[in-house]
Amino acid sequence: MKMSDPPFDFAPLLAPGLPPPAVKWTGFAKYNFIGGHNDADQVPLDALIKATNDVLTREGRTIATYGLASGPLGYLRLREFLAQKLKRTAGISCGADEILITSGSLQALDLVNGLLLAPGDTVIIEQATYQGALTRLARLGVNAVGIPLDGEGMRMDALAAALDDLKRRGVRPKYIYTIPTVQNPTGTILPEARRLDMLRLAAEHGVAIFEDDCYADLIWDGRRPPAIHALSRHGGVIHIGSFSKSIAPALRVGYIVADWDLLSRMLALKTDAGSGALEQMVLGEFCHAHFDAHVPRLTRGLRAKLQTLMDALNEQFGTAAEFDEPKGGIFLWVKLPDAVDTLKLFQPALAAGVAINPGPEWATDKEYSNSRTRLCFANGSHEAIRAGVATLAEVCRREFGVPARIANVEKVMD
Ligand SMILES: Cc1ncc(COP(=O)(O)O)c(C=O)c1O
Repeated sequence: MKMSDPPFDFAPLLAPGLPPPAVKWTGFAKYNFIGGHNDADQVPLDALIKATNDVLTREGRTIATYGLASGPLGYLRLREFLAQKLKRTAGISCGADEILITSGSLQALDLVNGLLLAPGDTVIIEQATYQGALTRLARLGVNAVGIPLDGEGMRMDALAAALDDLKRRGVRPKYIYTIPTVQNPTGTILPEARRLDMLRLAAEHGVAIFEDDCYADLIWDGRRPPAIHALSRHGGVIHIGSFSKSIAPALRVGYIVADWDLLSRMLALKTDAGSGALEQMVLGEFCHAHFDAHVPRLTRGLRAKLQTLMDALNEQFGTAAEFDEPKGGIFLWVKLPDAVDTLKLFQPALAAGVAINPGPEWATDKEYSNSRTRLCFANGSHEAIRAGVATLAEVCRREFGVPARIANVEKVMD
């Protein structure tokens, strides 16, 4: 290009309705409480290196064909592992051919949405929920009706009332999206009785259930109710899961469990000619031998970090930070005093090196979530968690006057 040539302008060529552009990545914050990052020290590196070597040595030449030698549903050995694991831990009876491997469970969300949703549709969702689910629905022009949660997950009285209300208005929601087993962000587990109630209500109203079990492996006491998919006697449930939280998110491996009728429609929407092969092969090799021993080790480490976070919040914020102890996972959902607007706390906190997720980005109800924040405790070291919470308390006091006492020392307001 000569100096005098004007630069080519793509702006008039851009497709209509594009989402806002991504912001450039400038590195992680010093104290990183955002996103769903995992604990670097807990990545089972030696076993992953050995699995990579073993599987490539044995069957590496299969990468010469699209879909390995397994076809478009994904690496067979990994699907076989999932079928037996889902049976053992979640009670799901499915064959390897009822599992589709996806590029992270985010692709699973896209495929299920692509299968079922059109602009103007309505879905039911937990009032506090996964931001990635909310932004997808907004972009699709789908109306999301939020159902309040309590200490045992989605409230069934509120679900029944919402379904009745929608019916009166002639609206049949497409699905109930739920994260029933270690909910994001609240960390609750929906008991079996509520799962059965949800199935009954969904059947009565002709609504599907979309079950996202992203965090189900990370339960402190290892005990979980059967998956909603497992409890259903008439189908109607699509189940998704992920290896992001149990092994590592950068691998980008998730999955969908559904009947072939539905998987065949979703396969037609999955236009990437198969998810990345290497990570599927490595996981297939690793999981058969090591998954069951790895997960309790990871979970013990996460529980210890949660304790550090809760202790640091109690010490630095005192009664100004309220939270219920999650039953597992990697998040603490924290309520700060009403005066604190977490969308406004976000920037000054980041400037001080602390990244937090503001509540309104994780909820359908802005008023409920305005003074709430989601903190991920998996990524930082114990020292970083303590130092990050101390810094956050200083910023919060400076910006909003709370907590008035920090580390039990009364501060004179400037
Ligand atoms: C509830 C839930 N579902 C799905 C995902 C997507 O995860 P991934 O695409 O890494 O499997 C996340 C990530 O944080 C999540 O929290």
